[in-house]
Amino acid sequence: MRRGCAVGMLQPLDQPLVIAHRGASGYRPEHTLASYRLAIALGAHYVEPDLVSTRDGVLVARHENEISRTTDVASRHEYADRMTTKVIDGRELSGWFTEDFTLAEIKSLRAIERLPDLRPHNTRYDGRYEVPTFAEILTLVEEESVRLGRSVGVYPETKHPSYFAELGLSLEAPLLADLGRHGLDGPSSPVFIQSFESGNLQWLRPRTPLPLVQLVSATGRVDLVTRTGLRRVASYADAVGVAKDLVLPRHADTGTIGDPSAVVTDAHDAGLRVHVWTLRDENQFLPTGYRRGEDPTQTGDSIEETQAFLDAGVDGLFTDHPDTTLEARRLHAAAATSPVLVGGRRVSRRRARVHPAGLAG
Ligand code: G3P
Ligand code: CA
Repeated sequence: MRRGCAVGMLQPLDQPLVIAHRGASGYRPEHTLASYRLAIALGAHYVEPDLVSTRDGVLVARHENEISRTTDVASRHEYADRMTTKVIDGRELSGWFTEDFTLAEIKSLRAIERLPDLRPHNTRYDGRYEVPTFAEILTLVEEESVRLGRSVGVYPETKHPSYFAELGLSLEAPLLADLGRHGLDGPSSPVFIQSFESGNLQWLRPRTPLPLVQLVSATGRVDLVTRTGLRRVASYADAVGVAKDLVLPRHADTGTIGDPSAVVTDAHDAGLRVHVWTLRDENQFLPTGYRRGEDPTQTGDSIEETQAFLDAGVDGLFTDHPDTTLEARRLHAAAATSPVLVGGRRVSRRRARVHPAGLAG
């Protein structure tokens, strides 16, 4: 069945997407069908699988190809001799790697919570879920779309594509094949394809009409989010997926957020959408002004943080807690149409938030 509808098409800029980062990973071990299923139940528009390859060339969802922190592989005696050290994108890593396991072997493992100290409530699910294939995720998304009567999108990320290509395990062809088998290969299919690398996005550009997303981290290729860089990105991609500090930089001394950078405006001028990552409810991930109390594991005011990003004009929000982000989005939209009195003038709440000092005159 070919799917395509309003959710899958590039959205109007006043309807930011809520993208469930690794599923509802604030509530379930990340990249499990349970995590994606919950994200959809909570109302997420898209679910985000990070994709790596098995030895036999099957795409599976893991944050990294090294899987000792997200599966029980380290406690599995039958795989003890698979532990090794590799250099992945210039970084030396020791552990167990998906490319050294067949799909059948990967399926014998069970997922565990990656952040057990931060999210101990999620550890009760340890050992209960398999590592899903991309195809299984697409089946889930299709079934849930039919069951709920709304089109849920999928937002896959190719992880370490050059590294996998050198092993003869390119990610792009199986990605397109899986999407094609599920009818998700048309210009309005509810799919975004993302990568930190540019080369594989450029390879994909003439091979798929699906929107492509250039990822940029706060410590990586920040040249890509200059005005010049963004114009170059626009020649092969439809959006940038940027670390949130690139949109709302934090003051180095206080950790509070300051004025928005030019990234959103410059990206929009270049014809690119802007999706930010990653919103999370816990204090540990929040700017200092939005934390509540001293405990890094406790929830802070992520609703206010989300609204700051919506004020900055972003088009999509990656989140570990889709319910909170959706509520922030709902409140933000309601406030935009609900006027308040500022200095004797009736103005939208949104305008009062963005231009508090400029309203009096
Ligand atoms: O894909 C957006 C964001 O998820 C990128 O970082 O490391 O969480 O995959 P990561
Ligand atoms: Ca990702």
